[in-house]
Amino acid sequence: MGGSRDSLYSPRPEPGTGACPRPPHLPRLGRRAVLTGALALSACGSKDAQSQPAPADLPPLKSVTPFRIGACVQALHLEEPALAALLAREVSQLTPEWEMKMEYIVKADGSFRFDAPDRIAAFARAHGMGLLGHTLIWYAQAPEAFERLDESRIGFADAYRNYIHAVAGRYRGRVTGWDVVNEAVAEDGDGWRDSLWSRRLGAFEHIALAYRTAREADPQAALLLNDYNLEYLPRKRATFLKLAERLLASGAPLTGLGTQMHVAADIAPGKIGEMIRDLASLGLPVHVSELDVSLTRSDNKLLSRSELQRRQAAVYGETAEAFMTLPERQRFAFTLWGLRDKDSWLKKENAGDAPAPFDDAGRPKAGAAALVAAFGR
Ligand code: XIL
Repeated sequence: MGGSRDSLYSPRPEPGTGACPRPPHLPRLGRRAVLTGALALSACGSKDAQSQPAPADLPPLKSVTPFRIGACVQALHLEEPALAALLAREVSQLTPEWEMKMEYIVKADGSFRFDAPDRIAAFARAHGMGLLGHTLIWYAQAPEAFERLDESRIGFADAYRNYIHAVAGRYRGRVTGWDVVNEAVAEDGDGWRDSLWSRRLGAFEHIALAYRTAREADPQAALLLNDYNLEYLPRKRATFLKLAERLLASGAPLTGLGTQMHVAADIAPGKIGEMIRDLASLGLPVHVSELDVSLTRSDNKLLSRSELQRRQAAVYGETAEAFMTLPERQRFAFTLWGLRDKDSWLKKENAGDAPAPFDDAGRPKAGAAALVAAFGR
């Protein structure tokens, strides 16, 4: 493991390792803009369970998927026996929810910490699961240590490369893939994000550099481009695909596309299938990377909670069906952004939400049954 590159200021990779090998033959393989604060239906967990009876003998998700099915986790989650057991039973891959982000890894003085991501990696290994690295470069995370880099000690580009080498190098051979750049496309789809990275290294250049450097650090991992709202905003999707094409044309080792899919239960039928088909048009493997189906983010405030729950299950099913229409080599993985309602990040936005396929007690909801049915077809 790359112990020597434990800070932004540690020596850069040896000259000569900078060459960009061709990607090995890998199996070819929003949050909504409008946040709805209303409808905080508290104390609805038990109601959810009642209105969505758990199918008694639902097989584990991973038993019906030949591709990897995953969930996000935090290291703390793994200490809760019930959740650890549910993860072990249901999924074959873990994505660290935030502890592989710069926010966690880069400390104020520019040194790195890997205790929590190491614990997640160890759990994945112990349970024979894959590990999906999330995420190396994100506009939303530019730690102070980067903002205030002492450039008399190291140049910005070298510190950037050091970071990618340190992290992707540490988990080399242990991840199935990396979300190398997360959310590169502007909110409305009009061009690319402005960020510390784009300002210092160039709008396109910092992205291409991230892919080249990740490939140096890990010759085997799938290197993904991940974004959100691709089902809601065709214009954003078009920009996302153009960016992917430009990366490929420049020789950057992009090997797959991630679509987060933080969707609401009232999403119009058909939008998800359309998005998956469009993404597949480049021929790269597709990752449904962060699926959750919010009840409270729905625009349609006239729908009853039970109707939203019915639609939620249908959206889980529709997503799995759309994924199953991909040729096998393009099914990279299918990841749920939380297995149980109570662990979902969306609870912080609205405590009344219940966006996951399993309820607070870990019992499968209708969404889990819809996933199993669609995957098993
Ligand atoms: C979220 C996590 O779920 C939260 O726990 C964290 O505090 C903030 O980030 N898109 C992404 C994920 O790519 O990393 C985000 O995860 C959700 C939106």
